[in-house]
Amino acid sequence: MIKLNINGKLTELDVADDMPLLWALRDVAKLTGSKYGCGKGLCGACTVHIDGQATRACITPMSYAAGKKVTTIEGLSDDGEHALQQAWQQFNVAQCGYCQPGQIMSAAGLLKNNPNPSDADIDQAMSGNICRCGTYPRIRQAIHQAAKVMAGNGEQS
Ligand code: FES
Ligand code: FES
Repeated sequence: MIKLNINGKLTELDVADDMPLLWALRDVAKLTGSKYGCGKGLCGACTVHIDGQATRACITPMSYAAGKKVTTIEGLSDDGEHALQQAWQQFNVAQCGYCQPGQIMSAAGLLKNNPNPSDADIDQAMSGNICRCGTYPRIRQAIHQAAKVMAGNGEQS
């Protein structure tokens, strides 16, 4: 049994130490928001937070996640009210949507460390998240909007 905190809940999962966290989240904990893309840490579709840091769940073994606090897209907010989720809707960011949970979790990690990122900061922080639909300009716009809202001077639509 491996004990960890997932989205604020103490959870015990009967999985092997070397199982990737993404597998445990999707197949065992039934949290399917985090997506499987490359499985090699290259595309960002599986991004979650571990103790507040954006992390690729597909290459993170359960032994590393044990005892830590894991936040998935399902736990980012109670009801989709996080400023990033609101901005994503406002700018209609998603196309097929597959990469978007990972994009939002990477963006949330960025705004935690840098509440007012420049275009260059955004491009750098988000460069490991691949979108086959090419939604990058809207992702950038939405991150700027969320940053404004979180700073208290944004306009919510
Ligand atoms: S599925 Fe984890 S980085 Fe691609
Ligand atoms: S919205 Fe389709 S992969 Fe990004």
